[in-house]
Amino acid sequence: MGIAGQTACAMARRVVGDVNGGGGDGVGKGEGMKGMRVLVNGASGGVGSVLVQICKGMGAEVVVGVCSGASEGLVKGLGVDEVVDYRVHNPLEDHLAETFGEQHFDAVLDCVGSQALYTHSPRYLKPEGKFINIVGGWSQGVVPFIRNKLRPCLLGGTPRGYELFLLSASGETAREAAAFVEQGIIKQAVIDSVFPMEEAIEAYERLATGRAKGKVVVEVDNS
Ligand SMILES: NC(=O)c1ccc[n+]([C@@H]2O[C@H](COP(=O)([O-])OP(=O)(O)OC[C@H]3O[C@@H](n4cnc5c(N)ncnc54)[C@H](OP(=O)(O)O)[C@@H]3O)[C@@H](O)[C@H]2O)c1
Repeated sequence: MGIAGQTACAMARRVVGDVNGGGGDGVGKGEGMKGMRVLVNGASGGVGSVLVQICKGMGAEVVVGVCSGASEGLVKGLGVDEVVDYRVHNPLEDHLAETFGEQHFDAVLDCVGSQALYTHSPRYLKPEGKFINIVGGWSQGVVPFIRNKLRPCLLGGTPRGYELFLLSASGETAREAAAFVEQGIIKQAVIDSVFPMEEAIEAYERLATGRAKGKVVVEVDNS
């Protein structure tokens, strides 16, 4: 499960804690998201493919996954109720507003790092809902974080909560991820490709394409 599994666990914990006010106690109990409507952007990626399983396993009523049409079968197989193809529905935000404008989400979990998804979120995210972005870096992480956290609504700020989540990996979170596997909540670790250690650079290049479905594995030779 590694970093992707831990990141997905920690995101789910924040959704439960922040949206239900339960301080994260619901994680691992299988129904901490009962009745919730959740959107996962980047549902076919390393983090997203685990996250959608956790959301469904924790009782989310509806999980909508955003990915390309080529990943639809994979993502549906992970339990996602509805898939939105971002290539067909462009701009994505207009499609989300049209489709989910009457039934807003409790949480939008962004594994792609889309500022537009946040800026337009009042059209499909409940006022008390949670927007969590995990994509860091200067342009996708730091600048949006400062702008989204500090700009008041009167000056054009978006009237929805915003969080840039950066994992601090820990044994506790790793055990949470393992518990989800043991409970059958995480059913699949989706593997995009496997590379030997001497091709680690090629593995990284595959990941950097942004097209990997699930995890890119580098094999460590124990002999
Ligand atoms: N904050 C943290 O602690 C933390 C931890 C782990 C990772 N991250 C970051 O989180 C991001 C996601 O990581 P990851 O490992 O899940 O990435 P990833 O595996 O590289 O994600 C690739 C997936 O993203 C989908 N995708 C690409 N463009 C998309 C778009 N515009 N809309 C929707 N889906 C799109 C692709 O699906 P299609 O091929 O179907 O288009 C592909 O399956 C990375 O930027 C990573 O650095 C942050």
